[in-house]
Amino acid sequence: MLELSDVHTYYGASHVLQGVTLAVGPGEIVTILGRNGMGKTTLIRSIIGFTPPRRGRVGFKGDDVTRWPPFRMVERGMALVPQGRRVFASLTVRENLEVARQSRTGRWTLPRVFELFPSLGNRARNRANKLSGGEQQMLAIGRALMTDPDLLLMDEPTEGLAPLLVREVGRVIAGLKRDGLSILLVEQNLPLALAVADRVHILSRGQIVHSSGPADLMANEAVKSRYLGVA
Ligand SMILES: Nc1ncnc2c1ncn2[C@@H]1O[C@H](COP(=O)(O)OP(=O)(O)OP(=O)(O)O)[C@@H](O)[C@H]1O
Ligand SMILES: [Mg+2]
Repeated sequence: MLELSDVHTYYGASHVLQGVTLAVGPGEIVTILGRNGMGKTTLIRSIIGFTPPRRGRVGFKGDDVTRWPPFRMVERGMALVPQGRRVFASLTVRENLEVARQSRTGRWTLPRVFELFPSLGNRARNRANKLSGGEQQMLAIGRALMTDPDLLLMDEPTEGLAPLLVREVGRVIAGLKRDGLSILLVEQNLPLALAVADRVHILSRGQIVHSSGPADLMANEAVKSRYLGVA
């Protein structure tokens, strides 16, 4: 589904991603962990094309998509749930969903999003800036689903949410996986990341410093304390 090989990304002279290689298979959830400023969002930006890699290759569904513009990536079946949600504040819930709509396969429709997130259905005519943080997160996920993706990129979807809502986001992610979606999940909530992931990578200063299954990371106190600051 997604294959990165030796990806190097810069902001000007600043060399942020320093040779990242990873893959997400069909139907898989791969989680990227790492402290603040380690390059997680830059990785997402490199994949979807906001900040294309200067060196290395991004492959998606059999195509070399390195340096494709974001709109083409979305047309090809990649969707982004950005860090900080970034919903359109002055648009209603329904409008936020409708502007994203692509009917590539017709899998995702407004009624289906409202079935997944009933509270959004109840607030369809409300402006997005009137929603709670949790509802805005659900809207950001719903908006991404309306583009009918095969691969979902999620950048810290539980950031700033109360524990109950963190669990709700986890339940939604697990449900999307059961539907066959592939997901690259950036997450700082370790229990959630470990609960949903098939494989985990830790990013530190723009390099992958640990890769394993979730159970191996859970048991690895040295790696957790060194790279994630978990006691
Ligand atoms: N637009 C930019 N221009 C220059 N430097 C940037 C830019 N965006 C990020 N950086 C720098 O690149 C590095 C990686 O940032 P990035 O946002 O990818 O980290 P992150 O792992 O997503 O952090 P967080 O957990 O806080 O979201 C940081 O040193 C950051 O200051
Ligand atoms: Mg980030």
